[in-house]
Amino acid sequence: MSVRRLAEDNVQPEGFAFNADNKKWAKATIAKYPKGRQQSAVIPLLMRAQEQDGWVTKRCIEHVADMLEMPYIRVLEVATFYTQFQLKPVGTKAHIQVCGTTPCMLRGSEELIKVCKNKINDKPFETNASGTLSWEEVECLGACVNAPMVMVLKDTYEDLTAERLEEIIDEFEAGKDVKVGTQIDRQFSAPEGGAVTLTEVPERKVTKVAKAPAKKAATTTSKAAAKPKATPQAKAEAPKAPVKKPTAKNTSAKKSAASAAKTTPAKAVLKTAKASADKSGPMFEAPVGEKDDLKLISGVGPVLEKKLNDLGITTFAQVAKFTKKQIAEVDDRLSFKGRIERDDWKAQARALAKGGAEEYRKVFGKDPR
Ligand code: FES
Repeated sequence: MSVRRLAEDNVQPEGFAFNADNKKWAKATIAKYPKGRQQSAVIPLLMRAQEQDGWVTKRCIEHVADMLEMPYIRVLEVATFYTQFQLKPVGTKAHIQVCGTTPCMLRGSEELIKVCKNKINDKPFETNASGTLSWEEVECLGACVNAPMVMVLKDTYEDLTAERLEEIIDEFEAGKDVKVGTQIDRQFSAPEGGAVTLTEVPERKVTKVAKAPAKKAATTTSKAAAKPKATPQAKAEAPKAPVKKPTAKNTSAKKSAASAAKTTPAKAVLKTAKASADKSGPMFEAPVGEKDDLKLISGVGPVLEKKLNDLGITTFAQVAKFTKKQIAEVDDRLSFKGRIERDDWKAQARALAKGGAEEYRKVFGKDPR
């Protein structure tokens, strides 16, 4: 990286001023920034000054600093930091900035520099005899993917060879339009000669939206069912299903269908029981007479037996006659989570009620408990 200093005083002009158009443009640019942040316009203004005069002079730096109410040193820091700003007169037709950083160097930037030395001037920043061309070596310009490359003003010229750079320099000198960007057969930074991966043409997939049976569509309230996920393409292609206007009849059907779908059959029964039963007291009127030893039923211990007794369940006969609804409610009251049916309390109680432990052994082939 070269040391960047202002040009000698003997080449610095006496003053600087934007021309009328640029003055108007500068005011509009400064106005784009929020109040108190006008200094953010420093780079656009310096760039415009360079485009107007060909390089950034000392007076230009001071002028821009005054416009933005910045200390001169701050604007000088910006101008000397970025290599896009030329601090001394350069070629009037092209100042060629050759990237010499590693990727470009590995891909031949040294050859490009030789071309510049041969065709323009042996020394960087010095112009050719007619003052139209100059060159310098710079650090990475961000186009390494198409190395080696050069930059002229705001444009880059990539994938260069020494021969192609010679032609480009001649084209600038002749005032011709020069092809910008890559100089070989590639699109932007895509592979040379075209794509080398993902070359198969993907099959066009059409997602068919299954037509829901009219009845189902009418009774469902689920958003997911009513709006199946479809690709934008499928959406566009799917026939529009007739919209069924809600009526009192189908709205009520929808509600009960949704409710039934959410509830297991057992719970549905329980809901009815819940509505009618007092859940805090006994469920049954306890039979008069001796209590059975409910602990003989597999799965019933002393604690459960007490709880069953508190519900008014004291005999095998009662358990043997449980209805589905009663099973659901006992399940719910005692948080059994299906234990009564899982352990088949009814069959056990039936055997015990019929013939005690002996009948139990006959039916189940083992002692009760
Ligand atoms: S190294 Fe040359 S452009 Fe990045």
